[in-house]
Amino acid sequence: MFKKAVTMTVFTGISAITLLWLFLPPKISVSGEVPISGEAVKRGEYLVIAGGCSSCHRGQTEQTNESLAGGLGIETEFGTFFAPNITPDITTGIGSWGAEDFLRALKHGRRPSGGFYFPSFPYRAYSKLSDEDVLSMAAYLMSLRPVSMRVPEPSTPPWLARWMVAGWNKLADLSGSPDEIYDDALVERGAYLARNLGHCGECHTPRNSLGILDYSREFAGAELGDEIIEPIDGAALEEWTTNNFDIFLLLGLKPDGEFVGGDMGEVIEHNTSKLTEGDRDALAAFFTRHNSSGG
Ligand code: HEC
Ligand code: HEC
Repeated sequence: MFKKAVTMTVFTGISAITLLWLFLPPKISVSGEVPISGEAVKRGEYLVIAGGCSSCHRGQTEQTNESLAGGLGIETEFGTFFAPNITPDITTGIGSWGAEDFLRALKHGRRPSGGFYFPSFPYRAYSKLSDEDVLSMAAYLMSLRPVSMRVPEPSTPPWLARWMVAGWNKLADLSGSPDEIYDDALVERGAYLARNLGHCGECHTPRNSLGILDYSREFAGAELGDEIIEPIDGAALEEWTTNNFDIFLLLGLKPDGEFVGGDMGEVIEHNTSKLTEGDRDALAAFFTRHNSSGG
């Protein structure tokens, strides 16, 4: 009897600890308000462009396509996920969000209520963004004109529930993410833009069967639906100089004289062509760093 009680207590204890480990809300260091200075808004606007947020969150109707009112259905093998309205509308958007809500969502994939976002929102790439960058983006988003637009909940297979993402996040944590430190500041900035803000790996890095990025083959190319995504790792870009890469990011023109198409054309148009020259140089330096003759 006593033995049984002890076993039960131990079992309950372990279950409780496991549940806590899975569901504990992330620790957020900053609290309070989203900054409102014109400077933060301007910085944020640039970061939202560099972060490619509009590729997914751009409104899908004629009235909303100049805004971030969302509605795009992102089809994956795990269901269709709709990019939400991220304009500051109180009822259908993020108008009531504070600083902590933005940090929790972008860096930890957690809803203001503590619930889980699906990783079709590339929050794992954004997890290493600096708090300052996240809050500047928040400042910009909160300065936009509110647009009323209700976006549908994702349509997922019956077995898939939001709480399962708790376990998925832990598995993804275990498989790690690159954390090299570069002694060249330009390459370091390029790594931040490529891996985090610009989330190039979300498309270009292959995934395992659970959809977790395989960093042992970072940038080695992937398949997204029926689209083939070329590798952009050291081997693939061996012939590219940093200058080639700069021109590609600005115009989508490859060294072989072809223009890139498909989703990458969109990335060039809405994201990399609008970066500062310094940031394009940084991306070019990062991706061609193996190529010492590049320049
Ligand atoms: C690849 C597409 C994609 C990109 C790029 C993307 N998002 Fe999202 N985002 C989503 C999806 C899909 C969701 C909802 C996920 C879900 O339903 O669980 C989401 C959710 C959000 C939410 C939560 C909104 C709410 O109402 O709960 C915020 C805030 C957000 N994204 C901001 C951003 C910002 C800022 C950027 C750019 C730095 C960005 N997103 C880039 C697809 C994307
Ligand atoms: C939404 C998915 C997506 C994202 C995000 C993305 N790419 Fe791509 N990329 C593609 C696709 C698809 C192609 C192939 C397009 C084609 O075949 O014309 C491609 C092609 C390329 C190529 C050409 C490779 C070759 O040899 O032809 C380069 C270089 C490249 N991407 C770099 C980047 C960089 C740098 C980033 C981050 C700033 C990035 N991509 C982000 C989808 C993406």
